[in-house]
Amino acid sequence: MCSIIGIIGKNLVAPELVDSLRRMEYRGYDSVGLATLSINKISVRKGIGNVSQVNKSLSLAEMEGFVGIGHTRWATHGGVTDYNAHPHSCCTNDIAVVHNGIVENYLPLKDELSKKGHRFKSETDTEVIAHLLEEHYNANKDIKAAIIETVKRIEGSFAFVAMFANGSLACARLDEPLVIGISDNAFYASSDVLGFLKYTDQAMFLDNRDIAILDKHGINIFTFDGDSTARGVTKVAWELADVNKGEFAHYTIKEIFEQRTSIKAATYQEEYKIKAFCDAIASAGNIIVTGSGSSYHTSLIMSMIGSRLLKKRFDPVMASEFKYNNDSIDKDTVLIAISQSGETADVLSATKLAKALGAKILSIVNVPTSSLARTADASLGINCGPEIGVAATKSFTGQVSLAYAILDRMSGGKIGFDREVVSDRITKMLADSTGIERLVNITMPKVNDIYLLGRSIHFPIVLEGALKMKELAYVHAEGIAAGELKHGPLALMDKNAVVFVLNPDDKTYGDTLSSAYEVKARGAKIIGISNVPNEIYDAMIPIPRMENELLYPLVEIVPLQLFSYYLALQHNADQDFPRNLAKSVTVR
Ligand code: AGP
Repeated sequence: MCSIIGIIGKNLVAPELVDSLRRMEYRGYDSVGLATLSINKISVRKGIGNVSQVNKSLSLAEMEGFVGIGHTRWATHGGVTDYNAHPHSCCTNDIAVVHNGIVENYLPLKDELSKKGHRFKSETDTEVIAHLLEEHYNANKDIKAAIIETVKRIEGSFAFVAMFANGSLACARLDEPLVIGISDNAFYASSDVLGFLKYTDQAMFLDNRDIAILDKHGINIFTFDGDSTARGVTKVAWELADVNKGEFAHYTIKEIFEQRTSIKAATYQEEYKIKAFCDAIASAGNIIVTGSGSSYHTSLIMSMIGSRLLKKRFDPVMASEFKYNNDSIDKDTVLIAISQSGETADVLSATKLAKALGAKILSIVNVPTSSLARTADASLGINCGPEIGVAATKSFTGQVSLAYAILDRMSGGKIGFDREVVSDRITKMLADSTGIERLVNITMPKVNDIYLLGRSIHFPIVLEGALKMKELAYVHAEGIAAGELKHGPLALMDKNAVVFVLNPDDKTYGDTLSSAYEVKARGAKIIGISNVPNEIYDAMIPIPRMENELLYPLVEIVPLQLFSYYLALQHNADQDFPRNLAKSVTVR
């Protein structure tokens, strides 16, 4: 996904555009660009790199003009090059466009427009929007008509902001987020409230198939069919302070340490809301839990515990696989959709599909104003504040904590999740983070293959731990169900392999210890994550003993997050904005 921003202001807008893009950089950081309007002339500056790098090399913040647009890119169509960076202009440069999403039919449109004489300068799908607007605007110089005709022609998911040489900003959204910000000095069109939160907390969330035209006189909103409409103004709950690193070197380590409190915050729910959520699950014929990446790992944990404690089948389905596995869905189905951002395309299309088949949609999100929260029948927030680091950390443990709170409530306290006790234990573990850093520096130089073994409730954590190591430190890491070892993965084990064994003293202890002996016999180095020392481990990361084995995921993942962070430091990887990734994947 990319980040887009448009501003019409009483002050020069370039410094604010750069600042807004810096706060939304987690959405994509392959290239950056601005266009501003000064004396009816649009100037464009864009280049490869992150916001600080491109701002420095091209002096973006010094650009002139009271109207402007900006973009950070996560490349999907066309390589990471200067000419594929946004904004993209039409032939006359009187229209410039920034876009998030994918225009799926851009090739036939490009062909059609080229035959009409339009000259394309990039390989992107986005550029067709600029030329389509030009084509229709030239017909009768009517921006409203031009954008309506344009959105009729483009297929796919999109949010774009187009700047016209007359000083208007025209924007539209279909399945990609776009929110308007209103202050005394400016109007904003942004992918995310973080784009304007420093200047105003007054937000107007555009619905799907909405178009908005902003100029210095005001904001006009209408639908793709041209019908005027209005959208309410909401006061955004988040504080800007939440998106500063404070004394931490990176957002990711800051967010790992925020788990001392965020796991508690996730369980602070309004009674009527959590009651409605639990009642819906209780009355469901069948329950499906879905998500992507870390949120899918939470779906696995929730499904395992829900099925075990409520004697009701919870089916975990990966969101990207949902469209191939939805035969059991009907009006008695409850779909629990889990997503930090609430904007992940695979999750949104899964909920759309399930809703069309009659299912009730419950969502667990971190962004309360997200599309998923607003389209679900009932939604609970995990209240962990903005998560900027691309690797999910506090959002994952927040989701798991809320799942515990829901299932504990429905099972009459069979998990025994005491947020104060768990928060206290996580605080103690975080206090020894330097121990993990030392372990990384001792064991990991020159290690390229890492395996994580676990059984039962520990299996989703070996998957999550492996994901953190891949995305943060760019190493090959694989989470393996320990019982599957002899059915193949054991062939990978040799003296170069490092194997984490998640092995607290619960009912899986003995079986997992056998797995440790099996890999040890092949020469692998073993790091035990356990509350019980054992000589089989070359190194051990101690975790507290938990009263209920179902609670181990929360204390097992924290040292794996820390390990991944310090490994990323050792590998000089970007701890907050890993290569090739984005915070939420809003394209399928
Ligand atoms: C996790 O660290 C990754 N950032 C990624 O796998 C993420 O969990 C996935 O893209 C889902 O995002 P969501 O929770 O915002 O839907």
